[in-house]
Amino acid sequence: MLAILSVKIAIFVRKIPIDVKIANIELGDKPLFLAPMEDVTDPSFRFMCKRYGADVVYTEFISSDGLIRDAAKSLAKLNIYDYERPVGIQIYGHEIEPMVEAARVAEAAGPDLIDINFGCPVRKIATRGAGSGMMRDVPKMVEMTRRIVEAVSLPVTVKTRLGWDEDSKNIVEIAERLQDVGIAALTIHGRTRAQLYRGEADWTLIGEVKRNPRMHIPIIGNGDIASAQGAARAFAEYGVDGVMIGRATYGRPWIFREIRHYLDTGELLPQPTVRERVELAKLHLAKSLEFKGEKVGVLEMRRHLSCYFKGLPDFKPTRLKLVTANDPAEIVDTLDYVAQRWGDFDTAGLVPAPLSHEV
Ligand SMILES: Cc1cc2nc3c(=O)[nH]c(=O)nc-3n(C[C@H](O)[C@H](O)[C@H](O)COP(=O)(O)O)c2cc1C
Repeated sequence: MLAILSVKIAIFVRKIPIDVKIANIELGDKPLFLAPMEDVTDPSFRFMCKRYGADVVYTEFISSDGLIRDAAKSLAKLNIYDYERPVGIQIYGHEIEPMVEAARVAEAAGPDLIDINFGCPVRKIATRGAGSGMMRDVPKMVEMTRRIVEAVSLPVTVKTRLGWDEDSKNIVEIAERLQDVGIAALTIHGRTRAQLYRGEADWTLIGEVKRNPRMHIPIIGNGDIASAQGAARAFAEYGVDGVMIGRATYGRPWIFREIRHYLDTGELLPQPTVRERVELAKLHLAKSLEFKGEKVGVLEMRRHLSCYFKGLPDFKPTRLKLVTANDPAEIVDTLDYVAQRWGDFDTAGLVPAPLSHEV
């Protein structure tokens, strides 16, 4: 009974617009965040998501060791652009001093905030104690965060998970302790490290952190949001200040516009037509070439290009052309062919790119 009442109160409360602020960064009511994703959220993809209404974007995670060694790959990920503000640079690492140094290097690149990754589940990172591995050493996690907050003048935020495994879901404690050392916002992915990306994200603990009267920083919920209704439910049922979307943005950067429209009006927007998708795929390609040059720009577009047209009938040979061509002009020709061949296809039934745990 009490639980039902509190959900109802939460729904009521969330109807009143709340201006969310991360430190002094104004984000308006119910901000939408593009999740940091390695090999996905490069500048060209961030450009697309920003264009369709992402309120905050992040770089891919950057190794602290790479940053302080001047490794070219890590330094290249520091490139950020004015149109994408507010933008966060995300760093990860297992040792305090290199992380503090990396935070300073990241700050010099001019982002709006520094995000610490305490959530990456990848074995070679987590078992060394970085990413989600830090959830097994809370004192070190807190000390690292405290030192980084002290070392930079930008707001510092953290992205993490519910805990290491089912028996150690310590996010409520972690959230309080990280807030106490000065983080400006916390993003929680509703899985443990042991779950990797399997099963369904559990938002109940995210809601618990948000409802904790000790907490006053923005709490951003993350995990399995793949529709406008899903995002609206996350705000209404769990009271989060922001929602972060990762995999559902593949081939669908317009999901931010869909969600915003639904939150504002309660209506669902139609899915973009094939011709519209072709135009935005061309724009995405042009941005990729601009930021990465022809060779890398084409290679890195491959994973995105096929997603824009997922679900089109008899698409396989065309898909193959799109993901094997090296010449941008050839890709554009193939995209023109897509517009011509499938231009009138009804996209209403096109299933959005499935999440990786669903395939
Ligand atoms: C390909 C891929 C790369 C990712 N890279 C990062 C990363 O660099 N930093 C990070 O904090 N999380 C990373 N994540 C996790 C996402 O940010 C997000 O927490 C997770 O995908 C759950 O959200 P979703 O269900 O909306 O996808 C990555 C996830 C995927 C699928």
